[in-house]
Amino acid sequence: MHVLITAGPTREPLDPVRFLTNRSSGKMGYAMAHAFVHAGHSVLLISGPTDLEVPEQVDFIPVETAADMHAAVANGIGRMDIAVFAAAVADYTPACVAAQKIKKSGATLTLELIRTPDILGAARENFGFTGTLVGFAAETEQLEANARDKLLRKQCDLIIANDVSKPALGFDSDHNEVLLVYPEYNEALPATSKHALAHRLAAAILELHAKLKT
Ligand code: C5P
Repeated sequence: MHVLITAGPTREPLDPVRFLTNRSSGKMGYAMAHAFVHAGHSVLLISGPTDLEVPEQVDFIPVETAADMHAAVANGIGRMDIAVFAAAVADYTPACVAAQKIKKSGATLTLELIRTPDILGAARENFGFTGTLVGFAAETEQLEANARDKLLRKQCDLIIANDVSKPALGFDSDHNEVLLVYPEYNEALPATSKHALAHRLAAAILELHAKLKT
């Protein structure tokens, strides 16, 4: 199977020395890349900046901005059977990037931000992807309702939802607890290491793919 995985944060530049980003470590996406390779599949990992080592035998495309990630996914997704969107993509990016370092002047500074492309939302609609589509949802409230809404809006086959209001789990942690939201039902997986969870998730996604293809 050919599997595309997006991972990590994006980095949206403000000026030559500053950027907007988020707390995503990339651990979940990288652990999943490792798990799919371990199960004998071919993986294309498209990742924003992280401190992690790229797992062996993974094809790797490093990107910085949401726009870069969008272009890399557009280019690669046509050859894929499965696509897993684990990246924490910035929702907004500075409307313009200053050519020189922004100087301090007044007591306040207002930044204008514009929406970034929705990469997962583009998978079916713009890229014409017909394989198994998996998204993540990091929520601080109404986990299931928000994840199910995302599943339908973005035409996914599965949303892996996690509650990021729990301080020891999720973003930048080695552990995670997720709710699998399928069109017909949910399945709660207990808290475990991202490494162990990645193997569970890869197995669940491969099983789902086999089911959808028959
Ligand atoms: O809507 P929200 O950002 O919570 O959706 C999360 C899911 O959508 C994740 O799978 C994330 O990787 C993906 N996403 C994306 N492009 C964006 C925003 C989110 O692919 N611009």
